[in-house]
Amino acid sequence: MLLNPKAKERDLKLKGAVQINHSSFFVFKDKNGKTFLKNGEDEKLHKSIVQKMIELNPHIARLLRRYKIKPVIDTRTLNELTNGHMNDTCNIAMGVYSILSNEIKDKVDKGTLKEASMLHDLGKVLIPSKILNKPAKLNVKERKIMNIHSTLGYELLKTQNLSNETLALIKYHHQNLQHSGYPVLPADKTSSDLGVQIISIADKYSALREARVYRRRLSRMEALLILYREVREGKIMPSVFNALLKYAELFDN
Ligand SMILES: [Fe+2]
Ligand SMILES: [Fe+2]
Repeated sequence: MLLNPKAKERDLKLKGAVQINHSSFFVFKDKNGKTFLKNGEDEKLHKSIVQKMIELNPHIARLLRRYKIKPVIDTRTLNELTNGHMNDTCNIAMGVYSILSNEIKDKVDKGTLKEASMLHDLGKVLIPSKILNKPAKLNVKERKIMNIHSTLGYELLKTQNLSNETLALIKYHHQNLQHSGYPVLPADKTSSDLGVQIISIADKYSALREARVYRRRLSRMEALLILYREVREGKIMPSVFNALLKYAELFDN
């Protein structure tokens, strides 16, 4: 694997992100199939990569127009998300996966899960920061805009050579077993997909254990109780929750 800051962005396809010595790096493949690492904290680079992704997919421009969102890329958000929440979600998802029984594990691909959890909230770079960082409850209109981040992430990454499985996990990471999450699932898709369940529970647990502008950081027990309520409501698979419980006991002190 090479660290090549001079590699031309136009020739590169994003494959995921990794954390090395507390610094984040995006993983790219060039047209010859060679893998490169690029520093994930380079704001200029971030901006040009995301700009390129927007140019490659006209559907993104249509979505932004429909929701009256300016195509402004919030690179600070991207840096914070990559180093914080997305990396944390990835670690929790990998932890939960490792605890699941072999019989359940066989139903999901570990590499796909890792890639998708590391990139799941990329669409937030296009959500206006006054909505993303609002220190109060979002109103209905703001909530609608916020909720398209998973679709935006999917559209941004659709042109980046990721597998359909990875893209589906990114698009549906806010879906649940009762199909009451977002975006709406097409008739042929099922949210009981184990990968969606693992990313979704890791995402929620990571978010609850972080302080947000509108609330304090919740304790391990408070976070687990909220998720247990979702198990009782039929939104989360009990086996996935039990694995998170074990993960939290072992690694989240
Ligand atoms: Fe999300
Ligand atoms: Fe998230």
